[in-house]
Amino acid sequence: MRAHPAGPLHGGMTPPPSVGLPPADLGALDPQVWPRSAQRVDGELHLGGRPVTELARAHGTPLFVLDEADFRGRAADFAAAFDGADVHYASKAFLCGQVARWIADDGLHLDACSGNELALALAAGFPAERIALHGNNKSLVELQLAVDSGIGHVVLDSFDEIDRLVPMAAARVAAGGAPVPVLIRTTVGIEAHTHEFIATAHEDQKFGFSLATGDALTAAVRVIREPALRLTGLHSHIGSQIFDTAGFEAAAHRVVGLLGQVWQATGEVLGELNLGGGFGIAYLPEEDPVSPDDVARRLRSVVAAECAALDLPVPRLAVEPGRAIAGPGTVTLYEIGTIKPVRLGSGGQGAPQVRNYVSVDGGMSDNIRTALYDASYTCVLANRTSDAPPALCRVVGKHCESGDVLVRDLWLPADVQPGDLLAVAATGAYCWSMASNYNYLLKPPVVAVREGVATEVVRRQTLSDVFALDAVLADVPAPSPAIDQPAPEHPAGARS
Ligand SMILES: Cc1ncc(COP(=O)(O)O)c(C=O)c1O
Repeated sequence: MRAHPAGPLHGGMTPPPSVGLPPADLGALDPQVWPRSAQRVDGELHLGGRPVTELARAHGTPLFVLDEADFRGRAADFAAAFDGADVHYASKAFLCGQVARWIADDGLHLDACSGNELALALAAGFPAERIALHGNNKSLVELQLAVDSGIGHVVLDSFDEIDRLVPMAAARVAAGGAPVPVLIRTTVGIEAHTHEFIATAHEDQKFGFSLATGDALTAAVRVIREPALRLTGLHSHIGSQIFDTAGFEAAAHRVVGLLGQVWQATGEVLGELNLGGGFGIAYLPEEDPVSPDDVARRLRSVVAAECAALDLPVPRLAVEPGRAIAGPGTVTLYEIGTIKPVRLGSGGQGAPQVRNYVSVDGGMSDNIRTALYDASYTCVLANRTSDAPPALCRVVGKHCESGDVLVRDLWLPADVQPGDLLAVAATGAYCWSMASNYNYLLKPPVVAVREGVATEVVRRQTLSDVFALDAVLADVPAPSPAIDQPAPEHPAGARS
């Protein structure tokens, strides 16, 4: 447990720095990690053809800067690699009206994990028939929205949900509508993360119908016998940030086995197989994700081989990448507020004796992943380069929580100072979408950049927005000048 309330660090809480030797160039932008448009111009980071100082001045910090060409390029890479299959963008990674329109225009499908994600996509004009609704506890209202709007699939997750959906589907059929297309989400007993996967007989988790207990087969048989539902196929999702296709291959083996069992039990040959998302991205330069082409080739060949072994026709494949489309193209810009050198206990020989706590103007409210998952990020000094020697740093937020860490250990130039801008890479997935108002910090805006044009696709939340929810404060004016709009130039301004 690293995260704990504010207060003195508990003895033994501080692990030794887990950072390697400083890189030769502290300002380098590794193409694995940084958006495709990222480059340094006269030392300054430019994204989508716009200098970061200008973006920060115009929109404030913290600021999510989304490289549109990167996002759409990665979506197109998946669509091309999985030609003839369905690529669903897992919108939980990051969704707003503009993203829903890009995904719609570029011909992909979209996964929603809640009625509100579904409502947002529909409100943005996303074609309902290309949307799938996930969730282990869909409410009656959520299911009704799915049925009424005619979405492509409801991904069934429990027997209770089947009981809830059937009367709604029956009402639709009675009114002359079509049966509701559904997938069965299976729990295949594979848990995969990064380079490892574990295959177990059953999984102790909340999603899906277990294959090992026979629930998945029971559910499939039940749904097939239900005239108001149309079972089109099976679904499995095995984990996240996966770099190795072996876990998908093991899952495909098991889920194709279930296709065979369904066929034997009912004579139905299901035509769709959705193998979920979880394709990894590089958060650090040393990470080396599998390309969409390689993933597609491996998955196709494994599914074809498994189907051949069971004498089944090969189903239409679907995948649900979220992070691999949204993650790498976005950068979070922060302004440094304070820097505090903290003496470390006596490290090993040559180990750094001081760690600089570099505090920025956001934190775990705009990126909870480091605190929640011990995720690794990298960042650079963004408004300039520096020849100063490397200093061991920890980038932390401004929350009242000592676990409020963004980048645990990294090297930054020793002359970083308040007013400098830091850019944290690969923050496009599960950062803005998991943002909170902890300590009443406000959700940052998202600015899309492309070929020199910057467009705010989500505006900054204001204190007035938050006051409006409060029964006592709804009509009280927020302080002026707005606390939530950082001053364009820091008093100690090092920004050029
Ligand atoms: C069912 C399902 N599909 C797709 C995804 C997207 O995963 P990722 O963003 O890692 O690709 C998730 C994420 O948890 C998921 O639960």
